[in-house]
Amino acid sequence: MIKKITSIDDLSIKEINKIADDAIKFSLNKKKTKKSKVRNIFNLFLEPSTRTTVSFELAAKKIGHNIININFDKSSLSKGETFKDTMATLVSMNPDALIIRDQREFSPRDIYNNHKISVINAGDGKNEHPTQSLLDYAILKKKFGNKKITIGICGDIKHSRVAHSNIKLFTKLNYNIELIAPDYFLDKNNLLKINKNIKYRNSLNNIDNLDVIMMLRIQKERINKNLKSSVASFKNKYCLNMKHLKSKPFLMHPGPVNRNIEISDDVLDSYRRSLILDQVEMGVYTRMACLEFLF
Ligand code: CP
Repeated sequence: MIKKITSIDDLSIKEINKIADDAIKFSLNKKKTKKSKVRNIFNLFLEPSTRTTVSFELAAKKIGHNIININFDKSSLSKGETFKDTMATLVSMNPDALIIRDQREFSPRDIYNNHKISVINAGDGKNEHPTQSLLDYAILKKKFGNKKITIGICGDIKHSRVAHSNIKLFTKLNYNIELIAPDYFLDKNNLLKINKNIKYRNSLNNIDNLDVIMMLRIQKERINKNLKSSVASFKNKYCLNMKHLKSKPFLMHPGPVNRNIEISDDVLDSYRRSLILDQVEMGVYTRMACLEFLF
């Protein structure tokens, strides 16, 4: 069967836990990579990335696969070739899997449907970023086991593919979810379709009940109107500082961080319960687990 990870919806809770458990085992050096056939993987990034693209490359190499990196500037898309023709060209070379980051929502799912090859969604517009969500869960599972934690997610939820995948995943896990954002960064009608029990707050004050606070980047590249005023009013009220963290929740952020917009310098540089770089490290192990899941 040709497998895909284009959305959290593609995975059962059993598969999610298997990927998270394997990632944790890799991180603890308690799991050896499977001796499997060498696969050819295309790593196609049509939007900028540091963490996801490097971690997929490293993950594939650690397992012993071939990985070929392609970005917009290096591809014939930059010479005017259509996306459809580029896809047909790449698929003609018979890759065993395609990892894709694309600004077009649902393009990973469409590639799977049109070409019947294994696809991993490395971020499609504001829709989803399922492997980020899986690595976030691996971190949380390593810290909290199977506890039904309370997690606050704060920031530009409306334009965040990470938030959309995480809200789906945390809903499957029966976590208590609290969204902390101004109305202009929320799309409550969409969120209601995923989970009717989410709590909403419009302030970072009194978050003592949270086990974890996850801050999100303002997705400047996806906001067409009123960007300057949204950023200014957001940072005045929602930039995380030490006063918000008296109860010492764990801090997460998928990265990259806009310093002093979502998180103040002092928190980013000295808060001891920050898991932000642990997330980056777990990204490699989780992507190894995802590739093993595919093959
Ligand atoms: N979290 C994340 O997707 O980071 P990159 O954009 O650097 O890959």
